[in-house]
Amino acid sequence: MTSSENKKHNRTLSARETAVRTFMAVTLKKRPFDVALDDMASKANLDARDRAFVLNLLMLSLRRYGSLKALLGSLLSSSLPKNATWTEAALITGLTQILLMRTADHAAVNETVTLIKNLPGKEKGFSGLVNAILRRAVREQEKLLTKLNRTPEKDLPKWLFDSWSKAYGKKTAVGIAEALRDTPPLDISLKPEEDKQAWAETLEAEILPTGSLRRTISDVTALEGYGAGVWWVQDMAAAIPAKLLGDISGKHVLDLCAAPGGKTMQVAAAGARVTSVDRSKNRLKRLDANLSRTGLKAEVHAADASTFTPGTPVDHILLDAPCSATGTLRRNPDVIWTKAPEDVAKLAALQSRILDHAFEMLPVGGTMVYCVCSIEDSEGKGQIAQFLERTKQAERTAITKDELGGLDELITPDGDLLCFPSIMADKGGMDGFYAARIRKLK
Ligand SMILES: C[S@@+](CC[C@H](N)C(=O)[O-])C[C@H]1O[C@@H](n2cnc3c(N)ncnc32)[C@H](O)[C@@H]1O
Repeated sequence: MTSSENKKHNRTLSARETAVRTFMAVTLKKRPFDVALDDMASKANLDARDRAFVLNLLMLSLRRYGSLKALLGSLLSSSLPKNATWTEAALITGLTQILLMRTADHAAVNETVTLIKNLPGKEKGFSGLVNAILRRAVREQEKLLTKLNRTPEKDLPKWLFDSWSKAYGKKTAVGIAEALRDTPPLDISLKPEEDKQAWAETLEAEILPTGSLRRTISDVTALEGYGAGVWWVQDMAAAIPAKLLGDISGKHVLDLCAAPGGKTMQVAAAGARVTSVDRSKNRLKRLDANLSRTGLKAEVHAADASTFTPGTPVDHILLDAPCSATGTLRRNPDVIWTKAPEDVAKLAALQSRILDHAFEMLPVGGTMVYCVCSIEDSEGKGQIAQFLERTKQAERTAITKDELGGLDELITPDGDLLCFPSIMADKGGMDGFYAARIRKLK
């Protein structure tokens, strides 16, 4: 069904159809997840419960797409034609409901079958096949679930799994793939002047060794303190790099690639004067909203970080460079299906341009923290190795375990930060992150 056919029939989309359409937009058209979902959701008049259902269904379907596709392949006697895109998307989301969400089986089967039956083109002919496969999934639920969970690496594109195996060894790569299947917790950064223990109790959260609060995921806007701007959402790994600047009270910190502002808020809350730069005007709107909610201040510029020069000298620099974001796949599972190895190479080239320009603005004795929410070697360790090689005035300052609440497994032999989702996996894990701290010598 095209959007004009939808308009002609003047009908709203059901929750399941919204999910199927969004799934196709992300996996086939490579549209960003948020944009695709907003677009589809605007055509559907979903209430809050249905919206939450669609979001959960899509997150699980995208997170497990690789292994669901392999399982589907094993259930079909011959592969689906390439243009049977609705059928594949309906089957993947149908299997997700039956095996991973345990939604009422009849709804998952009947609504998915009806969706295919009502298609205008030839694909309606697959409704019988969809019915047979989903009914089999209901009958053989436990057996199929065991099969689905057997090979975590199937949930990643081969190029990505190979890249991690090469950089960290196969065992670690499998561990990361396994951890990426889990729904992540909600991590919170609290303003430093607030009483951590009291807020942990109020928010039913635990205090992590690095100082972040952690609780189960829920609608943040309904939680106490969010509206009042006492805290913001930030994965525990993402909250570490800004802390590596040390005591920045009264200093001028340049936050490059700053939107939507998680690190800007940390730096401002630590008492620094902040200049925040990001190229995306749209993402800067979110940074502005975050600053106004929390009552924190920054001088904000929409500019290219590879050429931007601040009006007044800075003391320290935080560079959260644009990256492939492979460390955040558990929160953004669509990213895996919209990126290719060439993107990583292009981003690595952009990172080195921004790094070189940023370092020129750093005063002698100043500190720059470079970080990426990626675990690709070329964007992290490899990037910094090349930078140090070509920049004689730059010296790495090793990170110590005391700065990380004793979590020395997050420190590389070189003294950089390297987080994997598989670390502390039994307690909710963390996003993948890399950071290096660099000082400018005379
Ligand atoms: C990892 S995100 C930053 C997250 C942010 N630091 C935080 O803590 O909330 C990377 C950002 O880089 C921005 N970006 C990409 N290329 C850029 C460039 N050439 N100059 C400035 N910003 C850029 C993107 O718009 C994106 O907001």
